[in-house]
Amino acid sequence: MSNYHIKHLEEYYQVYRKSVQEPEKFWEEIAEEHFLWQKRWDEVLSWDFAKPEIKWFDGAELNITENCIDRHLATRSDKTAILFEPNDPNDPTEHITYKQLHERVNKMANVLKSQGISKGDRVCIYLPMIPELAISILACARIGAIHSVIFAGFSATAIASRVNDSDCKLVITSDGSYRGAKTIDLKGIVDEALESCPGVHTSLVVKRINSDVSMKAGRDKWLQPLLDEASNTCEIEIMKAEDPLFILYTSGSTGQPKGMVHTTAGYMVYTAYSFKNVFQYKENDVYWCTADIGWITGHSYIVYGPLLNGATTVMFEGVPSYPDFGRFWDIVQKHKVTQFYTAPTAIRALARQGTELVNEYDLSSLKVLGSVGEPINEEAWHWYNDNVGKNKSPIVDTWWQTETGGIMITPIPFVTPTKPTYATLPFIGIQPTLMSESGEELMDNQVEGKLCIKFPWPSMARTIWANHKRYEETYFSTYKNKYFTGDGALRDEVGYYRITGRVDDVIIVSGHNLGTAPIEDAINEHPAVAESAVVGFPHEVKGNALYGYVTLKDTGESRNQENLQKEINQIITEHIGPIAKLDKIQFTDGLPKTRSGKIMRRILRKIASKDTGDLGDTSTLQNPEIVKDIMDNVV
Ligand code: WT7
Repeated sequence: MSNYHIKHLEEYYQVYRKSVQEPEKFWEEIAEEHFLWQKRWDEVLSWDFAKPEIKWFDGAELNITENCIDRHLATRSDKTAILFEPNDPNDPTEHITYKQLHERVNKMANVLKSQGISKGDRVCIYLPMIPELAISILACARIGAIHSVIFAGFSATAIASRVNDSDCKLVITSDGSYRGAKTIDLKGIVDEALESCPGVHTSLVVKRINSDVSMKAGRDKWLQPLLDEASNTCEIEIMKAEDPLFILYTSGSTGQPKGMVHTTAGYMVYTAYSFKNVFQYKENDVYWCTADIGWITGHSYIVYGPLLNGATTVMFEGVPSYPDFGRFWDIVQKHKVTQFYTAPTAIRALARQGTELVNEYDLSSLKVLGSVGEPINEEAWHWYNDNVGKNKSPIVDTWWQTETGGIMITPIPFVTPTKPTYATLPFIGIQPTLMSESGEELMDNQVEGKLCIKFPWPSMARTIWANHKRYEETYFSTYKNKYFTGDGALRDEVGYYRITGRVDDVIIVSGHNLGTAPIEDAINEHPAVAESAVVGFPHEVKGNALYGYVTLKDTGESRNQENLQKEINQIITEHIGPIAKLDKIQFTDGLPKTRSGKIMRRILRKIASKDTGDLGDTSTLQNPEIVKDIMDNVV
């Protein structure tokens, strides 16, 4: 059915037109033909961006795991669902068939039930990239528990604030994780977090590295013995279309992370449909997304999207540099990967190694390359295209967000002509628009503005957990009746979009979304610090790196700045995680502030980027003299 699988450009325009002219009809047809429903919907869409309230397929009943697993058993039971590639290349690859996945998810679901978890309960998952991570997610979905996955690089403090925000009852973790040549003590981190999480009654522990961990009596339980005893059948819980499926935290412009809530039916329909088209997925493909499942990319395009299509999805536990920088290419060759989806920061890190390693491997299985997480610069795009795709595999530069649930602006491979650094055209059903500084919609091509979306799409987040007001303020109050993305973009003469980067206080470092506010809050915890401001500056591999301006309390004592820098980064690591560490710290006597006391970040960004030719208007500063002082001492 052509609406479901687009194969050429005219068809794209035709299907796109239908999807925006008759969105209800369009999505209804997709929903009807490609999924199992326990009960049909009463209404395809109802929405009001002013409230905001968005409902897709309201009245319908379903279970997403029946669509991800059970319905494939008739035709694909021995097909590999998850292809697990361990950290150590000498350890065996694990092929988990759909049948085995069914059994393992059912067992896990029964274990969760036996631990008192039922529909609507929140379960925190803090695991490395091992099969149990995907299995735990699906087990939650099977019994209607709401999963909240926390990326296994976050610190104890970050875990505790997320666990408490959504009031999780149970945590699934492991004794530790492998990361290249290192091991990480995940259990120790969780133990520390749980000291301040009174609501968690149980912690289930996967044995991965066989380390000697302490188990707290009554709370901590090894998972395997429980699985061994569990039955391998577990009936699906019947879920309503708008029941929450999961919470996933993302940073924002205040210290508290935002628990984005995704619901069941719309998320299912959109991730399945976008996966199929954006990767031009075909039945015998081996699809690999290198992201961590701790991020939305992994939720939508390692777990749900691929499994909904009955695909084989690769899960890689390790890092691109271990045992050497050829590891990605080794995996592509070994498993004859057909679609390869990664982040610009990884491409830049690999490009720095030259072309010798990448040329050693047979990459001829590749058909489609993907990029996600941050703007891809021209140089990285060409390196990827020339050396990985050998100029024959189209690159899909996919723009989207935790909040959007699925890919929003992207080429469709073999359909949309690509253009380096451009995410190109809106995906089917997506209605982007650009807004001017004065809040007008820019209707022409060849314009630049703030990127908004005008109409709901099925996989959009419905709220922020326990904070609907913040959801409204963050996304729907800047422009009336529009979802504001927080990104800037330009549209070229043919209507292609190029994302220019964040226009708010979020900085994308190595593809990770970091808010400046939580980092500043952490820095300010240091007893010697009076005030701080964090900005991004361009970095060759990370895209952006973090630059902190720090003013110290005046105590009359002299201080060792080198030690202070270490201590500040240590505090950041404890509060957030190592990904938020500052690359550069400048101690200064003051920060440039407007008369109303607001830090003028624009100036600090320019100084950190060594782009001080034109600092713009500084006449509203209360302390203009500090600017020269900061410039003279730039790091
Ligand atoms: C922010 C969202 C979507 C999965 C990973 C990140 C930036 C994402 C692109 C791209 C330019 C991009 C945006 C966006 N971003 N993809 N292809 N080109 N920028 O999810 O952590 O929610 O971050 O990542 O700034 O707003 P996230």
